Amino acid sequence: MVSARVATAADWPEVVDLRTRVFVHEQGVPPEIEQDERDAAAVHALARDDDGRVVATGRLLLPGDGGTTASLGRMATDARVRGRGFGAKVLAELHRQARLRGVEVVELHAQVTARRFYERAGYAAVGEEYEEAGIRHVTMRRRLGCEQTRPVRPSA
Ligand SMILES: CC(C)(COP(=O)(O)OP(=O)(O)OC[C@H]1O[C@@H](n2cnc3c(N)ncnc32)[C@H](O)[C@@H]1OP(=O)(O)O)[C@@H](O)C(=O)NCCC(=O)NCCS
Repeated sequence: MVSARVATAADWPEVVDLRTRVFVHEQGVPPEIEQDERDAAAVHALARDDDGRVVATGRLLLPGDGGTTASLGRMATDARVRGRGFGAKVLAELHRQARLRGVEVVELHAQVTARRFYERAGYAAVGEEYEEAGIRHVTMRRRLGCEQTRPVRPSA
């Protein structure tokens, strides 16, 4: 069963390795902006495959004092295992961590190719598309409530 948890300092090299493969090697993001000073204060989550490899990650940037909106980013799943629920589990764990810290709204800059992934997790686009690090993005937002994001079908 796929599960996700908060990353510890010991996990960090593997998280960096995955992010580098996905964002720098696959997407061409400059390495000097892929990691930034906000990583130190962020909450990072990860999921491992059955062999123990880190295959998905993401980070949550908490609001400052009195704020209730957090930013989510650096969502990455190893290309070999996309579409198997690892990203969704990481996202759900970051939402759980956000709720624990009193966050009410999560905002993110979604690559347009990942828009559907976030919509599946309850996010809605806000405003027009724009370019960031040479990639088309759209801002998306989700209010944190219950984790149910899909219509419940009544059983027959
Ligand atoms: C976006 C990304 C993190 C998704 O991770 P993933 O592990 O493949 O996602 P999951 O398997 O958990 O998918 C969850 C749901 O979203 C859907 N989904 C995931 N990626 C999708 C995509 N690119 N387009 C459409 N639907 C997508 C899945 O079909 C699944 O739907 P379901 O609930 O109906 O089954 C992954 O594709 C990735 O790393 N992409 C490259 C880096 C990137 O673009 N990161 C986002 C930066 S904003």
